[in-house]
Amino acid sequence: MALFNIFKKEKTAGAAVPQHIAIIMDGNGRWAKKRGLPRSAGHAVGAETFRTIATYCKDIGVKYFTVYAFSTENWKRPQDEVNALMDLFRKYLVEAAETMAEKNIAVRVLGDLSVLPEDIQALIRDCDKIADQLEDPAVACLCINYGGRDEIKNAVRAIAQKVQEGALTPEDISEQTITQHLYTAGMPDPDLIIRPSGEIRISNFLLWQSAYAEYYFTDILWPDFKPEDLDRAIEEFHRRSRRFGGV
Ligand code: IPE
Ligand code: IPE
Ligand code: MG
Repeated sequence: MALFNIFKKEKTAGAAVPQHIAIIMDGNGRWAKKRGLPRSAGHAVGAETFRTIATYCKDIGVKYFTVYAFSTENWKRPQDEVNALMDLFRKYLVEAAETMAEKNIAVRVLGDLSVLPEDIQALIRDCDKIADQLEDPAVACLCINYGGRDEIKNAVRAIAQKVQEGALTPEDISEQTITQHLYTAGMPDPDLIIRPSGEIRISNFLLWQSAYAEYYFTDILWPDFKPEDLDRAIEEFHRRSRRFGGV
């Protein structure tokens, strides 16, 4: 308990928190099912959890916070569930545009946005414009229509295009070239990736960027996830020894 308090104190001082935390927000459907509610009700509560945890991350000094909100595979779901999720994105993006400057949080959306409804694309552009003006903000990334393989495929295409145009030679292509062509260009890799809901898999999330991430799995369903659960994940993160292949 004493140790925990010391950690809390450090945390409030902004020390020793991971620079980039990513979360696979999973378990909304099961949370709703347990209560006899439609899956969309789980997503609505999950969206509230996202707001709470994003604010908490900013408060404890986490610079980058990335969440998986909708995968390239999630289009397989029933149309009414997809529509409910799109409505939640609309609602959140409107709110983000209104509050980003005051909170100094840059909200960014990562993924293949070209197939999203046009009005959502316009809301994302609005957020980008505001985010571009912020000075040294905390960054909250919402991954929508995101797939790690799709992201790498798009990066390869963009690089191949540059080679074809003569702007790059194949020998010029380094790991950094690939990193710079991902949606996360300019961001540090995630230090800690959390997956709630009891599933122990990555489901196509941040495949390239997670090369040396620490994973944390918990059975808690995302709508039940609390700031204390994030504290527990960060505590566990501090017990890990990251060697990056060294000794
Ligand atoms: C995560 O919750 C949200 C999305 C994938 C959009 P799920 O909807 O996958 O919840 P479960 O896994 O069915 O419980
Ligand atoms: C991963 O959850 C995607 C998001 C949280 C957005 P899924 O519920 O889609 O993953 P699987 O199908 O269980 O692997
Ligand atoms: Mg799921």
